[in-house]
Amino acid sequence: MLVLGLESSCDETGVALYDTDAGLLAHRIHTQMAMHAEYGGVVPELASRDHIRRVLPLTSACLADAGRTLQDLDAIAFTEGPGLAGALLTAAAVANGLGVALGKPVIGVHHLEGHLLSPLLAKPAPAFPFVALLVSGGHTQLMAVRGVGDYQLLGETLDDAAGEAFDKTAKLLGLGYPGGPALSRLADQGDAARFSLPRPMLHSGDLDFSFAGLKTAVLTLVKKQAELDDATRADICAAFQAAMVEVLGAKCWGAIKQTGLKQLVVAGGVGANRQLRAALDAMAAKRRFQVFYPPLELCTDNGAMIAYAGAQRLRHAREAGPFAVRPRWDLAGLPAA
Ligand code: KG4
Ligand code: ZN
Repeated sequence: MLVLGLESSCDETGVALYDTDAGLLAHRIHTQMAMHAEYGGVVPELASRDHIRRVLPLTSACLADAGRTLQDLDAIAFTEGPGLAGALLTAAAVANGLGVALGKPVIGVHHLEGHLLSPLLAKPAPAFPFVALLVSGGHTQLMAVRGVGDYQLLGETLDDAAGEAFDKTAKLLGLGYPGGPALSRLADQGDAARFSLPRPMLHSGDLDFSFAGLKTAVLTLVKKQAELDDATRADICAAFQAAMVEVLGAKCWGAIKQTGLKQLVVAGGVGANRQLRAALDAMAAKRRFQVFYPPLELCTDNGAMIAYAGAQRLRHAREAGPFAVRPRWDLAGLPAA
């Protein structure tokens, strides 16, 4: 079965073709990061308009890459939610439009289910069950993933997402948007020991996170500096990153201990952070579990994870036609596959 996957929930347009026998045949992503950078964050209306411009050319390119045509499709999967309402409408409209035109069914995919299953597209892939740390600009969650549709939320952020904390901190240090990668680069040149920042909820006894206080602590620290020279900024970045990495690492270990599972999967843009990877690798070696990092193009928002998740839910495919999106959608409400 050949499934087209369409993702447009935030600031990436993703399109992919997944074949249930041959695997991922093609995938293309267009990121709007440069467009939103000027405004210091995602501008929903601009995001929607750009998805509209990109989605059909990307679809044609994917079909060409795979040497397939629209007539070869068996189903069309799209991100139904959660996300920005206007942005979601693009993939939903294209999926249902194509579905009606081709007489093929559509599958509305939960964006987070896409993220949770995306590691299975990587090589080597983990096998069920595993613990997933989902750390992106919009989400910070630890989940036990025991199968398709079998997700147990172990913990999540009570306020900012991890990527959001990186971005907001980078912004207040004047590092642009999205500032996570820039902050992390600067941190590599800094001395993490010069300033000490809080480790929020490190000893909370649960698997929840809170990052808003850490950001405020950085703000207070910045205000206290007589001069914010490059060396001081690098040291603050290093201290911030060390705090984030310590908390994320400790909660991952907590999740491994609590579930007794032996595999950890890290998904989402913050998973690109080198310090975080180094810390998790060291912990995995010491504590004898395995850690998987899907390639970055599958960690950030993409169409491949939507095509894949859709392919796992072919049973739930429905006739294309009038549609709605779900800007808010609780993962816990998903049926089993
Ligand atoms: O998964 P992603 O592309 O999803 C969202 O659209 O949210 O994640 C983007 C987030 C941004 O907040 C970005 O600053 C952060 O991931 N990020 C990083 C790094 N690379 C990306 N944060 C810390 N260190 C990095 N190297
Ligand atoms: Zn996402």
